[in-house]
Amino acid sequence: PDLELIQAHIRDVPDFPHPGILFKDITPLLNHREALAAAVDGLAAPFLGAGVDHVVGLEARGFIFGAPVAMALGAGFVPARKAGKLPASTIGQAYDLEYGTATVEIHADAVTPGSRVLIVDDVLATGGTGKAAVDLIRKAGGTVVGFSVLMELSSLRGHEKMPDVELHTLLSV
Ligand code: PRP
Ligand code: MG
Repeated sequence: PDLELIQAHIRDVPDFPHPGILFKDITPLLNHREALAAAVDGLAAPFLGAGVDHVVGLEARGFIFGAPVAMALGAGFVPARKAGKLPASTIGQAYDLEYGTATVEIHADAVTPGSRVLIVDDVLATGGTGKAAVDLIRKAGGTVVGFSVLMELSSLRGHEKMPDVELHTLLSV
């Protein structure tokens, strides 16, 4: 994939959502047809031969990339949502935030035992969200084939929370 093209379409927004935070805005990338295609291709490419059954996309920005990656891999798409958003029977996994906790959920029948799962998200930061998704998929009986992210904020060492997961990162920032 054209990593320079992808990088050129990620916008740094200072002081969002709080003073001192430099926000990585992916909307210029979504807006640009070649950059969007390069990002989707790049997220999917390492897993083309991996026999992926389901792509799990993490709400909300992981949904945007997860569904086209699922199509590229010939897999189904599973939304992993914040607590209380999914209508049918769910399984959940709690994780720690800076203040308090959050829960990520999938439908109980979405990932079947033995299913080979690729997790997709835009950013890996502390790894809290991603690790919860890994634990949730394993709880459902699925095998985590890998975790594909557009950007890793490497100073936050999220990777270290999931040493046994094949992490694929397009950009390290
Ligand atoms: C952001 C980002 C990742 C997560 C990474 O999502 O899209 O999902 O944080 O952070 P972590 O590695 O420290 O867990 P956020 O929860 O801000 O919400 P959104 O995707 O719904 O915008
Ligand atoms: Mg997110």
